[in-house]
Amino acid sequence: TNDHLISPSILAADFGNLQRDIELLNTSEADWIHVDVMDGEFVPNISFGFPVIAAVNKHAQKPLDVHLMIVQPERYLKAFKDAGAAGLTVHFETCPHLHRTVQVIKELGCRAGVAINPHTPISVLEDIIAEVDMILIMSVNPGFGGQHFIENTYKKIKQLRAMAQSVNPDLLIEIDGGVDAQNAQQLIDAGANVLVAGSAVFSSANPKAVISELKHPKKL
Ligand code: DX5
Ligand code: ZN
Repeated sequence: TNDHLISPSILAADFGNLQRDIELLNTSEADWIHVDVMDGEFVPNISFGFPVIAAVNKHAQKPLDVHLMIVQPERYLKAFKDAGAAGLTVHFETCPHLHRTVQVIKELGCRAGVAINPHTPISVLEDIIAEVDMILIMSVNPGFGGQHFIENTYKKIKQLRAMAQSVNPDLLIEIDGGVDAQNAQQLIDAGANVLVAGSAVFSSANPKAVISELKHPKKL
């Protein structure tokens, strides 16, 4: 099917030519623009914050899909919304009051997402799945682009799609880390419908062609 969404991650863009890379995404088959925020505490890397996101938003013609890899994300939800976020995804591992955090995201008018790390089981999502628009399954350990895809992810996608069937059939399942044109179709077949790709897109000589391949993957 072609009804899945592609969300290229600007973590792998050229930050010295960010406007150029955003304009490239504007004229591509990308559906969203994935924005990775890292705080050096939840994850061992620091990426960028509000002024950079606001600058991206100034040029972007596609919704910003903001992935918060930060502790206590509830402190900053409104600021991310004001910087231009269309969707806000918080990590399960950072939110002791996840239900409340999800309600706040929805009250802000943003699409609400919850992300889980590779070692976090799908079962912990049972009592939040009906409340969210999207679950992001990390297919690498968060913090860096360009890592190797963790194969156990396929099993988790199938479990989550089965869990969502009755309570949230429209659930978006986003996969983030090590996604490329080779594994895209298998991820979709397992039940994913949003694919994030950073290095596969931006380390290519032809990023727009890679985005098209992700949007229309070859059937296996
Ligand atoms: C990792 C980030 C990802 C990253 C993916 O912590 O959440 O969005 O940019 O990069 P690739 O596609 O290179 O694995
Ligand atoms: Zn991400």
